[in-house]
Amino acid sequence: MKTGKTLSPAIEQALNQQIKMEALSSSKYLAAAAWCDAHGYSNSAEFLFAQADEERQHMMKIFHYVCDMGGHAISPSIGEVQHKFSSLREIFEYALESEVNVTEAIDEILTLARRENDYPTENFIQWFVTEQIEEEYIVRRAVELFDLMGEDKLALFMIDERIPKISFHDPMKGSEK
Ligand code: FEO
Repeated sequence: MKTGKTLSPAIEQALNQQIKMEALSSSKYLAAAAWCDAHGYSNSAEFLFAQADEERQHMMKIFHYVCDMGGHAISPSIGEVQHKFSSLREIFEYALESEVNVTEAIDEILTLARRENDYPTENFIQWFVTEQIEEEYIVRRAVELFDLMGEDKLALFMIDERIPKISFHDPMKGSEK
């Protein structure tokens, strides 16, 4: 009897690892947001709180996909994340490094799905490929602001004002988001 396509053990494991990575990413953004809030960078804090929410949504998207595909999604346990930072610049460099790592992990899942001819997972993970273009772009632009404007008190004030206004032109939609 045919029972339909389900996730292979390798794909299920990779998706569960990604669930964990998105949860870790959410926790990292939350800690970064708290640091910004405590240091008077309220706009950056607001931006980072929103990012933390988004990462949790990413986690839940994958979690539901694993469940919907007949797999066993694992509620992730994550350890301590960094809470102390030396500067606002370090926060965004930290965010960029984290996003680059996420992009690499997403790409690996896509490669695995293709190797296994798992078309549903290939199709599902494409959304994250596109999402990572935006996420990397925004934090990279944020890091560049420090090179452009410097890091004296006035520059930091202006960078904090600028952070939430960084916009992304989505090449898939051809319009400003
Ligand atoms: Fe969901 Fe920014 O990784």
